[in-house]
Order: sequence, then structure tokens, then C-alpha cells
Amino acid sequence: MNWNALTRSEILKRVDDALAKNQNYHNNPILGIPGTYLDQEEFYKDAEFLKKAPFLKTLIANPNHIGCHTLGHDSSPIFNGTQEIERELITLCAEQIFKGRKGQQDGYVATGGTEANLEAMWIYRNYFRKEYEAKPEQVGVIFSEDTHYSIAKGCDLLQIKPIMLPVDDESRQIQEDTFREKVSQARKNGIKYFIVIINLSTTMFGSVDQIEPIASFLEEKEFPFKIHLDAAFGGFIYPFTNPKSKHNFSNPRVSSISIDAHKMLQAPYGTGLFLIRKGFMHYVTTDEAQYVPGLDYTICGSRSGANAIVIWMLLMSYGAIGWKNKMNELIQRTDYLCEKLDKLGLRYFRNPHINIVTIRANQIPDAIARKYELVADTYEHRPSWWKIVVMDHVKMELLVQFIEELEAEMV
Ligand SMILES: Cc1ncc(COP(=O)(O)O)c(C=O)c1O
Repeated sequence: MNWNALTRSEILKRVDDALAKNQNYHNNPILGIPGTYLDQEEFYKDAEFLKKAPFLKTLIANPNHIGCHTLGHDSSPIFNGTQEIERELITLCAEQIFKGRKGQQDGYVATGGTEANLEAMWIYRNYFRKEYEAKPEQVGVIFSEDTHYSIAKGCDLLQIKPIMLPVDDESRQIQEDTFREKVSQARKNGIKYFIVIINLSTTMFGSVDQIEPIASFLEEKEFPFKIHLDAAFGGFIYPFTNPKSKHNFSNPRVSSISIDAHKMLQAPYGTGLFLIRKGFMHYVTTDEAQYVPGLDYTICGSRSGANAIVIWMLLMSYGAIGWKNKMNELIQRTDYLCEKLDKLGLRYFRNPHINIVTIRANQIPDAIARKYELVADTYEHRPSWWKIVVMDHVKMELLVQFIEELEAEMV
């Protein structure tokens, strides 16, 4: 990873140039598009502060990034300028952060982890249908019990079969023997093709699933499978804090990745990325999208080009080194929290490369958990775990205050 940071004015110039390359609703003769600039009563186009605000400027110009722009054929030329920045962003994330080979990945800016996960499941279900004549009920989705609920949502929408694997209560890892048993059972129930969801990391624990035991077993049995990494949470931290990670495209078993920008990257909600090796997007071509130049391959359809611009801007304003330093700072603060919990003799789960600490609920007084807005593993029953996520706003002073209050309650 070695992309350089750009200065504010370099970023501004690049976005201004991209917007100038786009057609715009003020100056170009655009008659056929059911879109326009944002309402001028509510959104002032000439406000002074917009001059130096590339994201807001793009939001107001309102370019549509409908479709997928990495496939090489012409997508809508109207917004080519900002779509070019989206392509650059996909390349940066796929090749630099997730170690893909040059020019070998496709992707698009999705609304977030849920959409990116659904997109992956949709692609693989159709892949098995087309290449193996699989029926939806013959496609199983393997995932741990700590997996985000978007995967269950996807199974429901796509009518494919969930295969949930229990995890060890301490390590939060899938156990190999139960995994083998569950897969064998699924085979007996008629499931022949597998979509494997690997968490990088889980929402509640920050645990990272191992790829090899699952992949090796499926290979050994010659069961067709595809692996999707759900890096909605960890995608912008783990590759920086664990440079030896094999949870990326350098691992030939990994086919696709979801990453949220509206978590670690602190981009506005509605920003995420879907990345996939080349040769798969066409399984979800919507041929009926005839009026969209280049057709559509995404779940969401129309989407704001400003979302791609803001993710690109954030990555460019830090550069690889700046971002790595920022993520390591979060890890140091998380380490501090864990040291203090150790001193208090409290039991918790933590992956050393992730900024999540999940504490056994019976050790934290409810009032403290509520005061600090800790997140419970369930709000339907009595929680077993409370989670702390050391995000940017969780400064040392806040952690010190939390620990002091906890300590006072414990004596
Ligand atoms: C691991 C994981 N996957 C998927 C999602 C869903 O992401 P979003 O809420 O951006 O759709 C989340 C959100 O917390 C997550 O942590």
C-alpha cells in the first residue's frame, strides 16, 4: 500500500475537473434524463462555502452513477468525469488495500455492507444456477452464528438455504468438527453448492473467521463453493493493522469483498464498496435495464456519484501511511482499554488487530452499560455481552473515565 496523500487543493482540483467533464443540468442540453440538480430553494448552488467543499458540490450537481463502471464498456457518458473517480477508487481498494492483481477486479460503490453482501450472494446463486443448473434450494450459505443479519436477509430474499455454524464461546471461532457435521448434513438435505461468508470481522465481537479449514474441507470433498469476505466492519482497519493478513485477493480462494466506508472511514451513511474478481458481474446483468447505457448489475440502481467522491477524497486526504497511522492509533487505545480490563480481572473477547472489545455482560453494572451506550448482543433477552467499539470519538479521556467508574463500582 503506497498511495500518496493529496493536498486539499489537489483534491478540490481533481473533483472540479471531474465535474467539468460531466455534463451538468445548468449548461448542457439534457432533455431525456429523469434527474436534475438538487432543488434550488433548498440547496444553494452558489454558496461561498461550496467552493471549497468538493463532496457537497458533487452532491448538489447530482451525478447519477447507476450501473457498474469497471466493466470496460461505455456506461452513461453524461457523468463520465465522476465515474472515472469511482473506477480509480475501486482499483485503489481492490489492488492496494486488498492486494488484487492489476486490472483483475470489478466493483461499485454500494449503499453499505448489507447491499454488498446481498450482491455477492445474488451473483453466486446465479453463478451456480447458470454453470451447474442448480436450483435455489440446492444452494447453501455457510456462515458463523456471529455473522451479520444481512446474510440471513439475503438467504430469505434469494430463497437459498442458511447453514449457520456455532462458534466456540471463548474464541468465537467456528469449530471444525461441527462444521464438517453441518456440511455433511446439508449435503444429505440436498444442498450441493456452497456460498461461504467469512467475517473480517464480526459485528459484535470483532472476531475474524479462518478461511483455510472451511475451504480445504470443501475442496477435499470437491463440493463447488465460492468465498465472500464480509469486511463491512474490518475492511478499512484490518488490512492496515495486520499487514500479513491473507484475507484479501492474494488468496485465490477469496472471490469478493464487502467494505463499509460509513464505519471506519467516517464517510456519510449510504457509502460502501462491493469488490469482486473479474468474470462474475455478468451473472447479475439485468438485461431489462435497456435504457441504462451499459445495463445495470447492482441491487440499488440509481446512486449518487457524491458517495464515490467522498470515499475517494477521504482515502486521498490521508494517503496509505496517514491512514495506517490513524488505524494504529485506534488499536493503541483499544490495547489500553484491554490492559485496564485485565487489571480489573474482567473477561472479554478481542482480536488484536480490531478495535472492538466485547465484555461478558454479568461483569458490567447495567447503569454503566446504559450510561456509556454499550451495545448488547441482544435486546430481546438478557444480554450475555456488552460491546465497546473504539471509534475516532472514543478518546483516551473517555476510556479513562469509563474505567474509573467501573473500578469504583467494583470495590
Ligand atoms: C460485519 C457486518 N456486515 C454487514 C453489515 C451491514 O452493514 P450496513 O449496515 O452498512 O448495511 C455490518 C454492519 O454493522 C457489519 O458489521
